[in-house]
Amino acid sequence: MHEQTQEITEIILKAKAKAIKETNHEPEPEFSKPINWPVNCVVGPGLEGAIACETKIGYVNGAKGWLIYRGYNIFDLCAYSSFEEVSYLLMYGYLPSESQLSAFKKKLIQYRYMHHTKRLLMSFPIEKMHPMAGLRLGTNLMRQEFTDADRENYTSNLAKIISADEDSIPMETKPKGEEHAIYEFKQPQRQQIISDDLKHATGFESCFHLLSGVATLTGAISRLRQGAMPIENDASLSFAANLIYTMTGKRPTPIEERIMDVSLILHADHGMNASTFASMVVASTLSDVYLSVGAGIAALQGPLHGGANERVIEMLNEIGSVDNVKPWFEKKRAKKEKVMGFGHRVYKAYDPRALVLGPLAKFMTKKSSNGKKLFKIAQALEKEVVSTLGKEKRIFPNVDFYSGIVYAAMGITAEFYTPIFAVSRVAGWTARVQEYMRNNRIFRPRAMYTGPFDKEYIPINKRKK
Ligand code: CMC
Repeated sequence: MHEQTQEITEIILKAKAKAIKETNHEPEPEFSKPINWPVNCVVGPGLEGAIACETKIGYVNGAKGWLIYRGYNIFDLCAYSSFEEVSYLLMYGYLPSESQLSAFKKKLIQYRYMHHTKRLLMSFPIEKMHPMAGLRLGTNLMRQEFTDADRENYTSNLAKIISADEDSIPMETKPKGEEHAIYEFKQPQRQQIISDDLKHATGFESCFHLLSGVATLTGAISRLRQGAMPIENDASLSFAANLIYTMTGKRPTPIEERIMDVSLILHADHGMNASTFASMVVASTLSDVYLSVGAGIAALQGPLHGGANERVIEMLNEIGSVDNVKPWFEKKRAKKEKVMGFGHRVYKAYDPRALVLGPLAKFMTKKSSNGKKLFKIAQALEKEVVSTLGKEKRIFPNVDFYSGIVYAAMGITAEFYTPIFAVSRVAGWTARVQEYMRNNRIFRPRAMYTGPFDKEYIPINKRKK
C-alpha cells in the first residue's frame, strides 16, 4: 500500500516546495500574542478584520498562503498523517501516541453505527432533498437519539419502534399474517457506546459521535439517493475508505483511499470561516454541539462557502471545451460575475489546499477521458483567471476549485462534494466549539441603525391604499 501511494506523498511534498518558493518574498507574519480585551481592530463589511476570539487550533496566513493546524503545516500533515490523527490533533492539541490513536480510531468506528438514526432518516423523503439538507436533518436525529430526554423515552424493542411509524417504512406481511419491516437493522449496542458525557450533548464524546456520524449520514444519504439501501459500515476500513465505501458501495483502491484521506485533512479546519463562526455562535448560547454542527452545515452549503465545489463542476461542464474558456471568461468578467472556486477573504496568495488538490486532480484523471477533459478546462480557466484577476486583485484558485474533479474521478456525484467538505469540517467545528466553551461568552455584535426615528404610527384603516 505504501508503495502505491508514495507518488501521492511526492505530489504533496512538491506542492509544499512550490508554496515555499513562491511566497518567500512575502514579509514574515507578525504572530499575535494573547489579547487584552477589549481589542482595537479595523472592521470591514462582513466582519472583515474583526477578531472574535483567541484560538490555539489553527492559523491561516493569507499573504504567505500558509495553513497551520496546532503548529503543524498542512503539507506535512497531508504527507504523513491521517484524518483520524488530524482530528485528534485538532481536538486535543497534540499528536497522539500509538495507543491513543488506536483507542481513538476504535471509538470512531463504534460511533459509525447509528441504526436508529438511519432508520429515522429513511422515514423522510431524502431522495427529494439536497444532501446538505439531509445532513442537517440527520444531525438533529442524532441529537434526538442521544440526548437525555429522548433516551428516557427510548425503547430498545425494534418491533415497537418500527410499528411507531410504519407508514413510512416498507412493510411485508409474513405468512402468519403479522406485519414486518422489509429492512431490519442490527440492534445497536447502545448502552456500551453512550457515555455520561453524551447525556449533555455538548462534551467531547458527542463531538466524536458527530465526527463519525456525519460521515455515516453522508454514506446513507448517498445510497438512498441512488435508490438503494444504506450499506453497513465496515469496521476494518479507515475513516476515508469507509466513507467512499458507504457512499458508492465500492471498496476504494489504496490510491482512492489515500486521496480521500488527504482531502479530508485539507478541509478539516480553516480559521474563523462562516460555518465555523455559525457553529460557535450557536454553541455560545449554551445550545448543544449537535445544533452547532447543524448550523455549520447550513452555513457551509452556500455557494460563497463550501457550496462552491458543486458549482465548479457545473461551471466546467457549462464551459464545455478548452477553446470556450477565454470567451466564457470574458463574458463573465464583462458582467462582473464571480468565477466559482476562485478568491478568498483571507488568502491573497495561492490557497495551499488548491496547490495540493490541483496536481491530485491531474493524477486522478489521467486514465479517464472525461476526467482529463474537465481537468484541462479547469487548468485553462485557472491560467485565464490568474493572469488577469490574479494580477489585479490577488484572486487565485481556492480549495473548492479542484476538489470536485478529484471526487468525480472516484465516481462521486457533484451533489456530494459539499457534504464531504462537511464530513471533514466537523473536526474543526467541534474542536473550536470545545475550545470556545471553556471560556464562553455569548456572541452578540451590534448593527449600526441607519433607519428613521420618531415616525407616527398610523392605524391600518387610515393608511394610503
Ligand atoms: N471571481 C471574480 N471576481 C471575484 C471573485 C471571483 N471568484 N472573488 C472575488 N472577486 C472580486 C470581487 O468582485 C471584488 O471585486 P471589486 O473589488 O472590483 O468589487 C473583489 O474581488 C473582492 O471580492 P469580495 O466578494 O468582496 O471578497 P470577499 O472576501 O467578500 O469574498 C469569497 C470571498 C470567497 C466569498 C469570494 O472570493 C467569492 O465569492 N468567490 C467565489 C465563491 C467561492 O469560490 N467560494 C469558496 C471560498 S473558499 C472555500 C470556503 O471557505 O468555503
